[in-house]
Amino acid sequence: MNAEARLAALRRKLTTETAPAIIVTVTSNVRYLTGFEGVIDSGINAACLVTADFARFYTDHRYAEAAFAAAEGTPWEVRLQRENLYVELCDELLAEGITTALMLESAVPYGRFTFISEQFRGAVRVVDQYVESLRQVKEPAEIERIAEAAAIADRAFDGICGFMKPGMTEAEVALELEFLMRRDGSEGVAFDLIVAGGPNGARPHAIPGERRLERGDLVVLDFGARSGGYCSDMTRTVGIGEVDDELRRLYAAVLESNEAGLAAVRAGMPCAEVDAAARTVLEEAGLGEYFTHGLGHGVGLDVHETPTVGRRSTESLHSGAVVTVEPGVYVQDRAGVRIEDLVVVEDGGYRRLTNAPKELIII
Ligand code: CO
Repeated sequence: MNAEARLAALRRKLTTETAPAIIVTVTSNVRYLTGFEGVIDSGINAACLVTADFARFYTDHRYAEAAFAAAEGTPWEVRLQRENLYVELCDELLAEGITTALMLESAVPYGRFTFISEQFRGAVRVVDQYVESLRQVKEPAEIERIAEAAAIADRAFDGICGFMKPGMTEAEVALELEFLMRRDGSEGVAFDLIVAGGPNGARPHAIPGERRLERGDLVVLDFGARSGGYCSDMTRTVGIGEVDDELRRLYAAVLESNEAGLAAVRAGMPCAEVDAAARTVLEEAGLGEYFTHGLGHGVGLDVHETPTVGRRSTESLHSGAVVTVEPGVYVQDRAGVRIEDLVVVEDGGYRRLTNAPKELIII
């Protein structure tokens, strides 16, 4: 991955700041900035220190061999922790003559913020979405990885449709879905997957449990794979046995809403208008009150990234952004329907990364 271009983009932002340095510790930001492959896992103790003059990657000895190998030929210098990473990092700042101001990400734990503030003594400023905003427009190599993760999820959906049967629990279906993705090359799952049958489908973030699938249920399956560190995210809703006309009407309305949202996706489009295009369809079907969340979100190294595609979004879609379009309706004690596709924003429209069928599948 292109560490030099990413570092250059971060440095362009730094030149507009009064603070000469930033410490980056959010794992996905560290992964993005360094471009290191096969080094950064969820448990890593690591920090990046970036100024106009140098880029240093700090970690401990457990990661040393992989970090030195990954940093070869990149602008990154690897520094290993002796006793306390943040004490040593602040000592280096002083040694470099950086004493007045420093930026930290808003997501740092409060204890770390306090500790660094005390060690550094200069002004410590917290910045929000600083590296994240650089991640919004994806490079072709990043889109390739997201597309691969989406293809794994598509194949797992096909597999799970052949596996599901009335009488199975949601938890059993969720386990099989995870198994199908991992056997097909997914690095774990992109997020805790959702399998929600019958009335559980009315909870947008239901946790798969012991409820058994029954004839007449709609089942919401929301899941994603991970490939080369990048996530995918998709949702399909399927029927068990026969599905009554009322539920079919909900399904048809959500599908129409999904298509209307997709039709509004193109570079330059305000995110709020994309949301409105999908929402209007459900409102006109008398279902507006059951659509209780935003239409979508960016996807990349994290499953939820900028931009937010919602009613109150103030951003517009950029060419090269990867976003979801996921309208849903949730009727309490009855059922839920959600249909979610992942797409790449392009100048005149979008490219589909989710290719699973969208007509109502009855199992
Ligand atoms: Co989603």
